Amino acid sequence: MEKKKFIVTPWEVRGEVDYNYLIKKFGTERIDERLLNRIKKHASELHHFLRRGIFFSHRDLDWILNEYEKGNRFFLYTGRAPSGPVHMGHLVPWIFTKWLQDRFNVELWFQFPDEEKFLFKEDLTLEDTKRFTLDNMLDVIALGFDQKKTHFLVDTIHANLMYKEACRVAKKITFSTTKAVFGFTNETNIGSIFYTAMQAVPAFLPSVLRGKNIPCLIPYAIDQDAHFRVARDVLPKLGFYKPAAIHSIFLPGLGGIMEQGKMSSSEAQTAIFTTDKPEVVREKISKFAFSGGQATVEEHRKKGGNPDVDVSYQWLTFFEEDDKKLKEIKENYKSGKLLTGELKNILIEKLNVFLKEHQKKREKAKDQIEKFIFKE
Ligand code: TRP
Repeated sequence: MEKKKFIVTPWEVRGEVDYNYLIKKFGTERIDERLLNRIKKHASELHHFLRRGIFFSHRDLDWILNEYEKGNRFFLYTGRAPSGPVHMGHLVPWIFTKWLQDRFNVELWFQFPDEEKFLFKEDLTLEDTKRFTLDNMLDVIALGFDQKKTHFLVDTIHANLMYKEACRVAKKITFSTTKAVFGFTNETNIGSIFYTAMQAVPAFLPSVLRGKNIPCLIPYAIDQDAHFRVARDVLPKLGFYKPAAIHSIFLPGLGGIMEQGKMSSSEAQTAIFTTDKPEVVREKISKFAFSGGQATVEEHRKKGGNPDVDVSYQWLTFFEEDDKKLKEIKENYKSGKLLTGELKNILIEKLNVFLKEHQKKREKAKDQIEKFIFKE
């Protein structure tokens, strides 16, 4: 991976990611036309994340659909380790998960492993992660998940329920496996080494609670794959199904795809947070969004811009749902008719419309947290 000059692990994403290489290296499968058609048959349309290859890879999606067609409904599982405020990149898998919940009418188990980043980050306290858990929950709720079908699991709150199951998993994982998969060393703290067992639990907890095996589909950005490679190996040994998975690419940081693998909360200037005010969004994008445009207006009109490296355009592929509009923007940018500043304005407008609604729903979500937290 070093040779390729990019890194994708659960703790670090850097460089220009070669997603084809990841498919081979992680041993996943590309989502092809045939599979898209199968999804479309049930969902009646395809989410633009699927149409545009933003969700691009999977494991055992055919099996999930086979079971679904037999009337054996799956549940969804995804999560967020609270370590800071939520940014637009975090929303990508969640927006898609919400779409899957609606289209397939299924349950979602959402994990907030509030110990994870405490264990992995030197400076984060458990009080910090607790605060961020409550804050981050607002963003999840604001996306409109069906409260009756959505259950939040918080590792320190649901420890009583989860710890026993995590031990069953942990017993099947050796230190040498975690070294190979996660790159742990003798200096790694033992909490970090155990953690992957906690992330495996929601993939089979519903099966434990209901006393029968239920298929599980996990949407996540591909950096989380290491955890689920391990989980897929272990769960059958405990008598459960291997969880299926569907993987997204990363939303690039404003600094550009070459410079930064994914958006990062620790680089506030190149991230748009869900609580950013319209002026802040405008300023960050105007100043920091890497442009594929030419140096002068004259040159731009003549040569046109390069949408492939232009962050504002790349972002619109995530957030402009209308294919026709997106195509027009691309063509006009390439031909030089659309200037960088104008392209940026389209994105700023798009994000601010979305964020205005999101922030309203986020406020309302404050009274709803209790209802989402799983009760036995
Ligand atoms: N480890 C994830 C993070 O760092 C959190 C997480 C827990 C998760 N369970 C998950 C992510 C399942 C995707 C799917 O945020």
